Amino acid sequence: MSWTKLIQRCDTLPSTNDRAKELARQGAPEGTAVIARSQTAGRGRLGRSFHSPAGTGLYMSVILRPRCTAAQLMHLTCAVALAACDAVEATAGVRPGIKWINDLTLGSCKLGGILTELSFAPDGTVDFAVVGIGINCSGDFPKELRGIACSLEGAVTCEVLAEALIDTLEEMNHQLLTDQKAIMDRYRRDCITLGRQVRVISPSETRQALAESVNDDGSLVVLFEDGQRTTVSAGEVSVRGLWDYI
Ligand code: BTN
Repeated sequence: MSWTKLIQRCDTLPSTNDRAKELARQGAPEGTAVIARSQTAGRGRLGRSFHSPAGTGLYMSVILRPRCTAAQLMHLTCAVALAACDAVEATAGVRPGIKWINDLTLGSCKLGGILTELSFAPDGTVDFAVVGIGINCSGDFPKELRGIACSLEGAVTCEVLAEALIDTLEEMNHQLLTDQKAIMDRYRRDCITLGRQVRVISPSETRQALAESVNDDGSLVVLFEDGQRTTVSAGEVSVRGLWDYI
């Protein structure tokens, strides 16, 4: 499907993902981007909030219309994280790491994150995907986020980063369904979680494990201390470092 570069800029929104979903339901084409200067209800994965103050971060959501099933799109969040790393590197001169599955990192802190949401057609295929990207460009953080969150410290403006990101997302979108293995090979290189001891957190328990590998569908293979090896998906668990966020 062809990519239409349309940008809707807003001052404040509850969440750019919600606005992009509204536009997608009204038929907005693939490539439509919504950018807000601030969000009052910015969301992350697993229902967490995403701190979105005015002017210091890029808060952007883009509509994709891949012709496939959900099962063929399990690597989408990984692909978007990679596109975000490419855009940050091209504009700010530093390449973030990726903390499985959707967090961008610098050093041991969170630089940003990806929130992917899908909507389905009656036949079960994907009607549209909205990929939301939040990246801290500058600014201070409230006390509860200090030592956890970090920014690009003004190395690039939100506007320049947004332009670059729309370009890397377009390129990613072209390769998404044809080059899954190549995308995931690059993801594995950027994924700082691999080879680390992590806490694997599910609603029922937290267990320590070694993060061994990421499969081509984005799932994580972990080796628990009792020798049990398991594949976990991002819908089931999150991971944290043993002592800190990464
Ligand atoms: C996470 O930390 O788990 C993902 C954070 C994603 C934040 C972005 S900001 C733009 C878009 N709108 C939202 O409400 N969330 C995403």
